[in-house]
Amino acid sequence: NFTPNAFVGEMVAELKEKLQNDKVVLGLSGGVDSTVAAVLLHQAIGKNLYCIFVNNGLLRKNEFENVLDQYKHMGLNVKGVDASSRFLDELADISDPETKRKIIGRVFIEVFDDESHLLEDVKWLAQGTIYPDVIESVSVKGPSATIKSHHNVGGLPDYMKLKIVEPLRMLFKDEVRRVGATLGIDAELLGRHPFPGPGLSIRILGDITLEKVRILQEVDAVFIDGLKSWGLYDKVWQAGAILLPVNSVGVMGDERTYEKVVALRAVESTDGMTADWVHLPYDFLMKVSNDIINKVKGVNRVVYDISSKPPATIEWE
Ligand code: XMP
Repeated sequence: NFTPNAFVGEMVAELKEKLQNDKVVLGLSGGVDSTVAAVLLHQAIGKNLYCIFVNNGLLRKNEFENVLDQYKHMGLNVKGVDASSRFLDELADISDPETKRKIIGRVFIEVFDDESHLLEDVKWLAQGTIYPDVIESVSVKGPSATIKSHHNVGGLPDYMKLKIVEPLRMLFKDEVRRVGATLGIDAELLGRHPFPGPGLSIRILGDITLEKVRILQEVDAVFIDGLKSWGLYDKVWQAGAILLPVNSVGVMGDERTYEKVVALRAVESTDGMTADWVHLPYDFLMKVSNDIINKVKGVNRVVYDISSKPPATIEWE
């Protein structure tokens, strides 16, 4: 039986012993896993933990600014790096999902590497890898079995020459949340839905432009804020919006429109390996659909994804 208190005590002691006076660098993503890993490490080694939070331009609306502020309030030694245009430039005209992931993974490593070179004498790279990440990576056995290459696992170029420390690699998501609560991390932050490393890039089907990112950020914000104000957010394991690469005909006043379609996705799950679509109330779906179409320029149709995993996946790419 997992006891978060005991885990924290033992892990902090283990980290102290392992890391001594070494400097450690960690990439914060805004998610639960990297945040819990950071706070745990901060308890063990204090100011020797250097956190880097990269804006890849594919985060949720206002996420970079808001989360960076939260990290600072938590006392973490964190540097925010806005690399949005670097990522978006590299992603121009790319439609293939795995290529998107690879580019984002590579650019992230480049940005992160540049930043960690500014720090002197760093010995370790800390990561918020959790058990399901480990399993999914290990189970990938070749091109035909490759489902999705999760860029936040394992892949580090040799030139970084850092040793890896992953304090959460034996934990499931719910255990990570319980550890986070024991560490005194804000409940709202701990209750955040998982969000993929490649961010909105894999929810924009096809090629990515700044305009598409803007549209999807607005749609996503209406959906997520709606879930929160209707008290539904915590009943859902993960939710988000997908921008489809098709236009459909609509009508606005006397005018015919020909605009984007978005899909909403909300799933129940325990670890993301399997998932069921959530039976969100019709009244909620009606309200959120109207709000999206009225507020977000460029969208004239909203659909709701009623597929479960398997055989569908949670993300559309
Ligand atoms: P799928 O779409 O495979 O998603 O059912 C399962 C969980 O994994 C997340 N996901 C990713 N996370 N990098 C990540 O960090 C990725 O490339 C990636 N692809 C999917 C997805 O959001 C869901 O929580």
